Amino acid sequence: MKVLVTGGAGFIGSHTCVELLENGHEVIIFDNFYNSSPDVIERIEKITGKSVKLVEGDMCDAETVDKLFKDNEFECIIHFAGLKAVGESVAKPVFYYDTNIGGTLNIIKAMQKYDVKKLVFSSSATVYGMNNVAPYNETMPTSATNPYGWTKLMIEQILTDTAKAQGDWHIALLRYFNPIGAHSSGLIGEKPNGIPNNLMPYITQVAAGKLECLNVFGDDYDTHDGTGVRDYIHVCDLAIGHMKALNHIDEIDGARQFNLGTGVGYSVLDIVKAFEKANDITINYKIAPRRPGDIATCFADTKRAYDELGFKTERSLEDMCQSSWNFVKNLYK
Ligand code: UFG
Repeated sequence: MKVLVTGGAGFIGSHTCVELLENGHEVIIFDNFYNSSPDVIERIEKITGKSVKLVEGDMCDAETVDKLFKDNEFECIIHFAGLKAVGESVAKPVFYYDTNIGGTLNIIKAMQKYDVKKLVFSSSATVYGMNNVAPYNETMPTSATNPYGWTKLMIEQILTDTAKAQGDWHIALLRYFNPIGAHSSGLIGEKPNGIPNNLMPYITQVAAGKLECLNVFGDDYDTHDGTGVRDYIHVCDLAIGHMKALNHIDEIDGARQFNLGTGVGYSVLDIVKAFEKANDITINYKIAPRRPGDIATCFADTKRAYDELGFKTERSLEDMCQSSWNFVKNLYK
């Protein structure tokens, strides 16, 4: 299949491109490198031994997007491009709505104009909001607590309405839980950009000596050790989830949501201990106040993704911890 991957140089995008290429698909990456770098393209090519076409550009520029579709006959779009920092979205909501929603509308309009009917969208478990009880399943009510989350929810709605109106579109809305880990080659992974907000990038920065101490946000949650519980999924498993969605895309009528997680929750302290054990490193940490907006427990009900897409994660927490560190430590050699 000829597949357009928007945001293909990013963390999840790059791992998905590797998976697509290894499965014989033709990949065109569209990226503006706002939060990624062009050398990722060479690294994807090095891992797979295959070439990737790159179109550098911004999805918010309607003319650029139109030309991209005009010049290529895409069969399917995998749409990762977007802004993703929760805190920044609270400070700059217009920037987030403009970019994530405006950019997606340009992609949708081009799909209509050039008759592309298949799309896989990067959504997030953040759409389950604060009021559901884990395990989260796709039929639960959704809500958001910050502009980033609202953009994911609004885009899900826009795609659902569009697919309904079009009649013959096939859209997979993939709700990611907490992606960590990196490719086994150590060539691609999650690149730290400033002080990380997320747990694993913070831990690897402490391990690298770039940050002094991990703040564990709260130890008085109603969980087995009091720290927050999340469903961490290896990014290479997540990439396979996209492959599975693509393989089954014709069976999806309209737009349908799928959780991509392991179904297992680990606490912050479980992750710290697993990281220390897997890499034989001590991580400095201290207990800090709760982070506003955090919930106690979040993990997936994985049944729908398994039943309808045949998706099941395979990689262990040890692998997630080892590969995360293997990638980051290479950055500082
Ligand atoms: N945590 C810490 N210290 C840190 C960072 C995180 O203790 O320095 C804790 C959090 O309190 C939470 C857990 O580690 O209990 C995971 O936090 P992350 O920031 O890594 O991930 P979140 O679950 O908060 O959010 C992530 C993505 C969002 C996405 C959401 C979906 O960042 O984009 O998962 O559930 F929407």
